[in-house]
Amino acid sequence: MNILGIETSCDETSAAVVRDGRFILSNVVASSLKEHQKYGGVIPEIASRRQLEYINIVTVKALDGAGIGLPDVDALAVTIKPGLIGSLLVGVSFANAMSFALRKPLVTVNHIQAHIYANCLTTSVRARRRASSRSGCFSLPAVGLVVSGGHTSLFFIADDWRTFSLIGETRDDAVGEAYDKVARILDLGYPGGPVIDKLARSATGSKLRFSCAPLPGTNDFSFSGIKTAVLYYAQKNITKPECSVAEVAAAFQTSVVNAITDKSIEVCKSKKCKTLLVGGGVAANSALRSQLLSHGSKAGIRVHFPALPLCMDNAAMVAGLAFHTFPSRGIN
Ligand code: KG4
Ligand code: ZN
Repeated sequence: MNILGIETSCDETSAAVVRDGRFILSNVVASSLKEHQKYGGVIPEIASRRQLEYINIVTVKALDGAGIGLPDVDALAVTIKPGLIGSLLVGVSFANAMSFALRKPLVTVNHIQAHIYANCLTTSVRARRRASSRSGCFSLPAVGLVVSGGHTSLFFIADDWRTFSLIGETRDDAVGEAYDKVARILDLGYPGGPVIDKLARSATGSKLRFSCAPLPGTNDFSFSGIKTAVLYYAQKNITKPECSVAEVAAAFQTSVVNAITDKSIEVCKSKKCKTLLVGGGVAANSALRSQLLSHGSKAGIRVHFPALPLCMDNAAMVAGLAFHTFPSRGIN
């Protein structure tokens, strides 16, 4: 089954064709990121106007890239929430119109859940020849961790891809948002995650420490306090010659990565679950990847991350997850 997915929840406009929920035939992403950089964050009005311009182009490219025509599309899938309302409206209206014109079913998908599902996608031709399975590539149950610009959430996926139970989330800022705000404080540009990730690698042996509120006895996170701690530290010290921006970035990142790792591994243990699936833009972070892998391996937990391009917003993850909720229709 070929599903054409559409994703327009933030600043990306993406269309993809995924076969049988796993095999990416094409995944085209156009971003308006550059236009937002001078404002230090995404401007919804700019994002949705660009999406109106790009949506048709990326869809045609996705069909061409997959080598299929409209009659070969079995169903459409679109991100329905969460996201910027103007941006979501572009994708949902476009997908609805296509579904109506082609008389093909439309499946609505939750963006956060799709980030976790990105772990099940492949471009491998060998894997494509093997029999497909409706259960996806991982045996469930699994714990899902979404770390993105808008969310930091833990889910339990018990036995099928239709049911995600939210078991923990941030009480204030999302982790990606904290990265972006700290980068702004340190004058590192937008988005902050990739630049802090790179800069932190160049810092060695600093004694500087920040801490995240541990929120004991819960599965929740908090990143607003550490952002404020970095702000106060920077206001006092940033102009001093001995103050290193790389060390501030590294101290922030170490604390955030420790908080996410500890809580995620703890949740897996309490759920007696051996699989942790990580997704979202911050899943591209090198320190988070290596720490979750090493702590997971010590605890006997297999930790999985999508390939780097699939950590970011893309339509393949939407088309992939839709395969498992098809043919249910309507608002998730
Ligand atoms: O999932 P995503 O593409 O969009 C949302 O759904 O929010 O995530 C974007 C977020 C941004 O906050 C960006 O700073 C962060 O992901 N990010 C990173 C890295 N690459 C992107 N954060 C930390 N380290 C990275 N390497
Ligand atoms: Zn996202």
